[in-house]
Amino acid sequence: MNLPAPPSPAAAPRPVTSVAASDATPAATCVQARGFNAWYGTHRALQDLSLDIPHERVTALIGPSGCGKSTFLRWINRMNDMVSGARAEGTLTLDGESLLDAGRDLVELRRRVGMVFQKPNPFPKSIYDNIAFGPRLHRQMTRAELDDLVEQSLRAAAIWNEVKDRLHQSALGLSGGQQQRLCIARAIAVGPEVLLMDEPCSALDPRSTASIEQLIRDLRTQFTIVIVTHNMQQAARVSDQTAFFYEGRLVECGPTDTIFTNPRSKQTEDYVTGRFG
Ligand SMILES: Nc1ncnc2c1ncn2[C@@H]1O[C@H](COP(=O)(O)OP(=O)(O)OP(=O)(O)O)[C@@H](O)[C@H]1O
Ligand SMILES: [Mg+2]
Repeated sequence: MNLPAPPSPAAAPRPVTSVAASDATPAATCVQARGFNAWYGTHRALQDLSLDIPHERVTALIGPSGCGKSTFLRWINRMNDMVSGARAEGTLTLDGESLLDAGRDLVELRRRVGMVFQKPNPFPKSIYDNIAFGPRLHRQMTRAELDDLVEQSLRAAAIWNEVKDRLHQSALGLSGGQQQRLCIARAIAVGPEVLLMDEPCSALDPRSTASIEQLIRDLRTQFTIVIVTHNMQQAARVSDQTAFFYEGRLVECGPTDTIFTNPRSKQTEDYVTGRFG
């Protein structure tokens, strides 16, 4: 699976690998938090967070409701800028560049860091136009180039065969699971480096959930994925590393196998075995 070059005038296309790095090879850090704190008004939602998110791996964020998982995700693409009273301190970087600079180009950042939400949110447009929307914003493309990018993005999100004969019909006519894969295709189409997924399967039936999980496993060869999930089996199935948050703090982060079978903290063990949460 090789996508066309990301349609951005601003950034050089990042190299796209077609072969997964070996699990044994330590991956370079993509997103790094050091002493990171986040507030909503006077409420501190994240405290002194230090965490490394490696390139081209899947990182799962787990923890009870309200522990700050979404807050952390939303700082990675600066979605919290839209929340009045939200502010952050400390270090948060993407490939070594600060994510918190006031002057940061947020359009470019959100091209590099795509997001998929809990509830599929296709635009009320055709399937084709949902995918073409971002690339059209970023650069001039010929119709043939755009057709190719739409096809490659839909193929990468494992939905091409289901929609190839109805590209010009409304995306709202797709099932929930198809809409979520369409949203993943839409995020992929602008050539991101990171995909943030906030409970992407929680509105889906088991079959659609299984197809999204398979998709996440397939996409990890090309993207850095951070997924928030309340489903422990899902975290265990799809992720390479798992970070357990509790009341705004990172309790523990490590290889997913270790977190689920031999965690350091009793709190982590109680949570992953379902004793609380
Ligand atoms: N827009 C907001 N304004 C004020 N407080 C907020 C806002 N969003 C989140 N919070 C608070 O920040 C804390 C962390 O919330 P966050 O949404 O990050 O938790 P979460 O771990 O994603 O929870 P869930 O699993 O329920 O989605 C909570 O105490 C929450 O009430
Ligand atoms: Mg959340």
